[in-house]
Amino acid sequence: MKQFTAVHDVTDIDALVKDALACKETPFAWHELGKYKTLGLLFFNPSLRTRMSTQKAAYHLGMNVMVLNVDKDGWKIETEEGVIMNSDKAEHLKEAAAVMSQYCDVLGIRSFPELKDKEEDLKDQVLNDFLKYTTVPVISLESATRHPLQSLADVVTIEENKKVARPKVVLTWAPHPRALPQAVPNSFAEWMNAIDVDFVIACPEGYELDEQFAGNAVVTHNQEEALKDADFVYAKNWSSTTEYGKCVVQDSSWMIDNQKMSLTNEGKFMHCLPVRRNVVVADEVLDGEHSLVIEQANNRTFAAQAVLKNILKGKR
Ligand code: CP
Repeated sequence: MKQFTAVHDVTDIDALVKDALACKETPFAWHELGKYKTLGLLFFNPSLRTRMSTQKAAYHLGMNVMVLNVDKDGWKIETEEGVIMNSDKAEHLKEAAAVMSQYCDVLGIRSFPELKDKEEDLKDQVLNDFLKYTTVPVISLESATRHPLQSLADVVTIEENKKVARPKVVLTWAPHPRALPQAVPNSFAEWMNAIDVDFVIACPEGYELDEQFAGNAVVTHNQEEALKDADFVYAKNWSSTTEYGKCVVQDSSWMIDNQKMSLTNEGKFMHCLPVRRNVVVADEVLDGEHSLVIEQANNRTFAAQAVLKNILKGKR
């Protein structure tokens, strides 16, 4: 594996999931693999899970880790080509990426969309510029369009908890007071379309995910109909796709509570976290026996470890 930015970077999803489960079983079995190797983690935006789980995954593999909060600790980075750099941005991404490649054997990048211009965000410029100007493998820690480490952890969690060979998985939009990116649902949809599940997306009108991510998923505006007989309910807010980046629907009737979960096939509840209690999901569901959110967060470590392991093996 040379890079991990989307499901299409993975040649064998089943094998990668098995690798993640093997890492969970014996986390230190490959401790020599990353000896004398350095992982650089660059954050243009905040993180709890991605930062800590990827760091832990690297330690399991014997790697050193350097974390840079670009938004707080680094020079402000210019991303435009050919720009006259007389503003507050002191360093161009071209040099920053090339220099970090001297210090690190693998780089992880987190860079969210601005949610102002759909076409601009779909270009995923920061991630793609790092892919262009680094000389080492790159892992997306959530980009403007996708969150593949989260999705891999989600696939691992579904694999561990499914009771039937082809479970029904429902991705449902849920309310939130702020406009959030579409990276998590985009990515989740791509990965669900790549594995053998009955996949349904429920969202209000104007929130349909871009076709390149939703693929052949069944899309409905009727949440209760979608939840019927679901084995997994994946709740997530995202901002409008037609009034791009705006928070135009605040309808609290989309919140997931026990009444909604009672429509399912004793379905498991999933969310990538962080989550706003009693806005996105009721306490009774989040604290209930069918919630998988902590297990999902735990699996982030082993998803990251499986990806790093494959990258390191490729480097040998
Ligand atoms: N789910 C997730 O990526 O969490 P963080 O934003 O805290 O990393």
